[in-house]
Amino acid sequence: MKTPPPLRIGPLQIEHPVMLAPMAGYTNRPFREICRHFGCEMAYTELTVAEGVARRLPPTLFYLNTSSREGFTGAHLYAAQPDSIERAARVVEETGRFALLDINAGCPVRKLTSKGAGAALMRSPETLYAMIRAAKNATSLPVTVKTRIGRSPHTGEMLEIAHAIQEAGADAITVHARYACDRHKGPAHWEKLALLKQALHIPVIGNGGVHSPELALRMFDETGVDGVMIGRAALGHPWLFAAIRAALRGETWNEPEPEEKIDWILEHARRFAELMNDAPRKITARLSPEEHACRLFRPHLACYLHAIPGARHLLREYNQINTLADLERILEECRAL
Ligand SMILES: Cc1cc2nc3c(=O)[nH]c(=O)nc-3n(C[C@H](O)[C@H](O)[C@H](O)COP(=O)(O)O)c2cc1C
Repeated sequence: MKTPPPLRIGPLQIEHPVMLAPMAGYTNRPFREICRHFGCEMAYTELTVAEGVARRLPPTLFYLNTSSREGFTGAHLYAAQPDSIERAARVVEETGRFALLDINAGCPVRKLTSKGAGAALMRSPETLYAMIRAAKNATSLPVTVKTRIGRSPHTGEMLEIAHAIQEAGADAITVHARYACDRHKGPAHWEKLALLKQALHIPVIGNGGVHSPELALRMFDETGVDGVMIGRAALGHPWLFAAIRAALRGETWNEPEPEEKIDWILEHARRFAELMNDAPRKITARLSPEEHACRLFRPHLACYLHAIPGARHLLREYNQINTLADLERILEECRAL
């Protein structure tokens, strides 16, 4: 396998096209920064409601918080109406902090689909088309779409949707190679990625089931995609990006020592607390910024503890951390393992 060439999305050039997937509850600023440290050049915000961005609601805009310690960041938005995306796109561009705007057309959660957003857009290629046009008219940022290979194996809309996305002028498409009805379970159908790559001329970013450097190489090789997006495998394991980067360059890579990993876990939580210091009052009204940060950090901690050999017994405590001192106590136990 040759090193994949840089990925161009409009004027954007991503030298090492292995990106962090948008994951609600996880891909907030501190995690993106840490993934960047380990070589991930491009990441996406958590899923953010376009209408809230359009109205500049402070709690919604807080989801779009970024820092200079990140790499390229995509604002990952959902909407049911082209008008919401159009107004939100102006706000996103105005911030001057985003490399691109990404529209969600794959999330199967009812809260979105019941309103016609997320995976429901696969039922309505015309709306998706209009949404992309609206975004393109409102911003000079590249506009991309994250979708799936269809709603179910029986609906057969994949190519129609992909062509609608391309013809509307999207600068790239990311495809999670599972059906919406399968959520995140079951095998990823990489052969569909190969098919899409053949059918489209815009860049195709493949996603689904990559959890090792070998699988990242295989996805590039077997499907011909222009970029690979990593989701769950990065949780508790941000150094995976460094491992993949080394593998793509044919270099050897040394996994960080357990001590270094533990230092990063603490750093991750500290950065969360820093972030929450800037949160709008509405978000931190009930809890102190530190306590709020620790609560939001709990799912990350669970992922980290899963990945540390011998630390699983500490999982019963992850849901009780309220302060950084609580976390430090758990991490001291990890250091002693
Ligand atoms: C906790 C969690 C939250 C997610 N949130 C989003 C989201 O907000 N938007 C989206 O497009 N995909 C979301 N996804 C899907 C991922 O971006 C990705 O497509 C999926 O996990 C498949 O990739 P993987 O097999 O590498 O994990 C989420 C996945 C998980 C596990």
